[in-house]
Amino acid sequence: MFEDKTRRRTFIARLTKLFFGIFSLISIVSAFKLKPGAPERVVSLEAMPVRVASMAELMQKGYVAFNLRGRPGILLLVGEEIRAFDATCTHMGCPVSGKSLNTKGVLECPCHGSTYDPATGERLSGPAPRGLSPLEFEVRGEEVYILPQ
Ligand code: FES
Repeated sequence: MFEDKTRRRTFIARLTKLFFGIFSLISIVSAFKLKPGAPERVVSLEAMPVRVASMAELMQKGYVAFNLRGRPGILLLVGEEIRAFDATCTHMGCPVSGKSLNTKGVLECPCHGSTYDPATGERLSGPAPRGLSPLEFEVRGEEVYILPQ
């Protein structure tokens, strides 16, 4: 009878050690799986508005060229209104910047001379096959943001 109690206690002690050992092992493995500073959720930058200019800058120059995730863009002040376009010329991809506004007040691609209407982005002359794509934007206080397209 005495021997049974001793064997049972020994068995329970070993079982307890085994459980603590397994628990410790799981904790260590979990700790290695977690990377410090890893984001808890992933938010795509594509889904976020991007500040591209201040109103002061736009008012001063009349245009602001910017780079939006590797693509050229342009903000234009046309009269009292703001316009935003993907500034990639639809002919062969040269960037059409605000400096491309020619003496007639149209955007002229520096590469092969295609022209675009700064108010609409519409193609006025080739060789570009079509107009510039408009970008959605928003003015927040004194800052201009391009919205996710
Ligand atoms: S790349 Fe603009 S006209 Fe050719």
